Amino acid sequence: MYLKIFSFVYSTIVPLQIMSLETIYILAIESSCDDTSASVFKNDEKLSNIIATQSVHEDYGGVVPELASRAHQKNIVPVVDQALKKANVKKENISAIAFTKGPGLLGSLLVGSSFAKSLAFALDIPLIEVHHMQAHIFSHFIKDNEKPAPEFPFLALTISGGHTQIVKVNNHFNLEVIGETLDDAVGEAFDKSGKMLGLDYPAGPIVDKLAKEGNPEKFKFSKPKVKDLDFSFSGLKTAVLYFLRKEEKSNPNFIKENIEDICASFQKTVVNILMDKLDMAVKKTGINRIAIGGGVSANSGIRNALKVSEKEKNWDCYIPKFEYCLDNAAMIAIVAYYKYLNKDFSDLSVTSKARFQL
Ligand code: KG4
Ligand code: ZN
Repeated sequence: MYLKIFSFVYSTIVPLQIMSLETIYILAIESSCDDTSASVFKNDEKLSNIIATQSVHEDYGGVVPELASRAHQKNIVPVVDQALKKANVKKENISAIAFTKGPGLLGSLLVGSSFAKSLAFALDIPLIEVHHMQAHIFSHFIKDNEKPAPEFPFLALTISGGHTQIVKVNNHFNLEVIGETLDDAVGEAFDKSGKMLGLDYPAGPIVDKLAKEGNPEKFKFSKPKVKDLDFSFSGLKTAVLYFLRKEEKSNPNFIKENIEDICASFQKTVVNILMDKLDMAVKKTGINRIAIGGGVSANSGIRNALKVSEKEKNWDCYIPKFEYCLDNAAMIAIVAYYKYLNKDFSDLSVTSKARFQL
């Protein structure tokens, strides 16, 4: 108990000493949703990052948990093998094995955690559990991003298919959620609205592509009124549904004839919601270093809006390299590296968690 309190206080007030004389090789595995990924790091340097995306879900309009879990089982050995080969590292030389503990789909998480546990046991090396959303935030600490990592403290906007949060990142291990969605995640809003437009899953990147050809001022969707730094996206999804129903009554070809403008108007509304809350968070905390992470950070609308704010509001914005926006094991490896330096290891009884607070 005392040890727990001590390590919590220690990790929250003593910034990590990023210093180690030994060379650490970490093998990391990410399997929280529908991508099987493995990455090998030499200290904080990425040697490989292999991602196998599952196309099996496309026909179903969303991720089917059972199919995802089965595809992970099929992919995990070849993906790990490829990651080690590309890195030119033998499994006997790995110092630790890291995996995503959660949040995510339980069946998917279990494939990664069971594999990591077995390998850690067989090789008799430390096992490191990583929080998926912490990893999205720390993808900025991977060296080959456009900019060096943000200084602490900074604000992170995590936007994915399962999350929408604003996090105050005080140091490597002290993260405070200061705002989050009360219902749907922003990626879900993209995917579900896209589905109503007849787009394939995941619809986010398709909406983004179509939005580039459309007029963002053509249609108006009202923004939800949510207090403080919290978000809500379920109302917007319903607004899209009613809007489409109404328009299709008078013109059955409405979607086909207006798809670019609908996507552009929808995306503009989402970006405005996110930017309004970020603006509020900057004012509230006095921190103007903003890092985005998660699948939706690939969105061109949010990326452009942040670039405009850098110029107009003097924000210092961090946008991850495209490879690190979507789910990948490199982001798991970088968090694991800091945990390794802190000797923050898990024992083999650790369990996967579908719901897991940051
Ligand atoms: O982080 P991620 O790969 O998986 C989760 O942890 O959820 O995020 C996936 C989400 C999906 O909802 C997908 O539609 C969305 O990210 N997404 C995008 C874009 N690329 C991916 N949403 C909007 N614009 C994009 N360019
Ligand atoms: Zn993710």
